Amino acid sequence: MAQPVRGRFVVVEGIDGAGTTTQTARLADRLRVDGLALVRATREPSEGPIGSMVRQILTGRIVAPEGRAPGWATMALLFAADRVDHVESTIEPVLAAGGVVLSDRYDASSLAYQSVSSGRGGDDAVEWIRSLNRHAVRPHITIVLDVAPDLAAARRESRGEPAQLYEQNEVQRALALFYRNLAKHIPGDRIVIVDGTGSVETVHDRVYAAYQSAFIPR
Ligand code: TYD
Repeated sequence: MAQPVRGRFVVVEGIDGAGTTTQTARLADRLRVDGLALVRATREPSEGPIGSMVRQILTGRIVAPEGRAPGWATMALLFAADRVDHVESTIEPVLAAGGVVLSDRYDASSLAYQSVSSGRGGDDAVEWIRSLNRHAVRPHITIVLDVAPDLAAARRESRGEPAQLYEQNEVQRALALFYRNLAKHIPGDRIVIVDGTGSVETVHDRVYAAYQSAFIPR
């Protein structure tokens, strides 16, 4: 699908503990300080009805009678449905008004997490997930925070929250590898891999530079 004509659409991605939430919020603050009038930070799963349900599945608050989480294909469909709702309710209106949308995760998360959890070694699942999301408006830039799985695991540990559905170390290692090769899986998109190690401000400077590379003419 074509890129939006107006506005700027930025996605921040990475494994759990990579810092996507922190860096999305920090970039939003920076752009507001820069004087941009309409900056909207948002996330997936979204705050909408399907996104809220998905969060309950991820944290184990909804379980099937046999105690099983839904399989990868069901999750891919739920995330894709949430994305349609998120685009319609939040992303497109802000872009149409000429604003900046910063999304903590988007369809790259589906390609990564649902293909890795399919256990099918990849391409078949990736192809199907891509087809589910083929009408999703394309970001102008996707910034991937690259963090060693061990460091991300230590950050998750220090939060002291119970592990969510995909937060096991082997899964996260496979995800880190997938994200390093993300450009291969989303041909045509602008993807920038940024070193996510260091202080919040150090990483923010790299994220901001990546943002500027997409929008500020040299
Ligand atoms: P996360 O972004 O870490 O949010 P929180 O701040 O609540 O921990 O959690 C979202 C989880 O959902 C994360 O493990 C990635 C996963 N996910 C998918 O598996 N597929 C998707 O399409 C999206 C958007 C997220």
